[in-house]
Amino acid sequence: MEKVLMNNSLINRDEASFSFDDRSMYFGDGVYEVIRVYSGYPYKLEMHLQRLQRSAEELDITYSNSQKQSLKSAIQELLSENELVEDGFVYIQVSRGAAVRDHLYERNIEPISFAFTKEMAIPEQTQDEGAVVYLSEDIRWLRCDIKTVNLLGNIMAKRQAADHDCEEAILHRGETVTEGSSSNIFIVKDGHLQTHPADNLILNGITRRVVIDFAEEQGLSVNYTPFTIDEALEADEAFITSTINEVTPIREWRGTRHGTTNIGPITKQLQNMMREDIAKTRNGE
Ligand code: PDD
Repeated sequence: MEKVLMNNSLINRDEASFSFDDRSMYFGDGVYEVIRVYSGYPYKLEMHLQRLQRSAEELDITYSNSQKQSLKSAIQELLSENELVEDGFVYIQVSRGAAVRDHLYERNIEPISFAFTKEMAIPEQTQDEGAVVYLSEDIRWLRCDIKTVNLLGNIMAKRQAADHDCEEAILHRGETVTEGSSSNIFIVKDGHLQTHPADNLILNGITRRVVIDFAEEQGLSVNYTPFTIDEALEADEAFITSTINEVTPIREWRGTRHGTTNIGPITKQLQNMMREDIAKTRNGE
């Protein structure tokens, strides 16, 4: 029987239930994380849990260090109970809690958390062949740095991209490219990497940070100046990063503008460095 976590306790999935008054349902009043699992081992778990805590704090949701610590061990238990020994992910959500619907939240309500695991293979074909992306206006709010479950702008763009046979939507505010609907974006020009600064307009992706570390290890410079759609289309290389897709090159652009980009050596190098790092996780290192 598949297990899930409800407030850090393991229960059978078919016994899990939610309060009618959960604020994440009425207001999207909750935060979440998606953590990759490689051969049964979570990748960058601590970084994800720290970001979860930050997201909660930014929304004034009570989430203490001890809650974080017990969630960490509960996740390990969940993975072993569900015998997730292949590749997959863990989804964690923390809602502000349950209270009769009111825009004004009270601070004394107990947060509600849950988590589940799912098997999911690495999308190697897209990683090797590159993704086709759809350029779409970024209509989201101005706190995209908080990983909230309120994802309407993201899911609308993702649907639009899929309707044009694209794997990801690349969002732009006017001419400025921000990030993907569920990924961050980098371009490469004359050997230099460029990505949007980690401000309020993007989610500071864990994969983004990991890739920046790899780039710095290789002596590659990273420019955190926002770039335009034209600069993206004229770049030597472009790629997206995310927990689910790791490092995926962009090969074609549709939507607001059209174009193609070659899959280049820097993207390949960073992709390989990530694969080597993941191999260590698979070995339990
Ligand atoms: N999304 N930007 C947005 C808007 C995202 O939703 C995500 C990830 C990222 C990449 O962050 P990370 O490298 O930490 O996965 C950037 C997850 C995978 C999701 O919502 O399923």
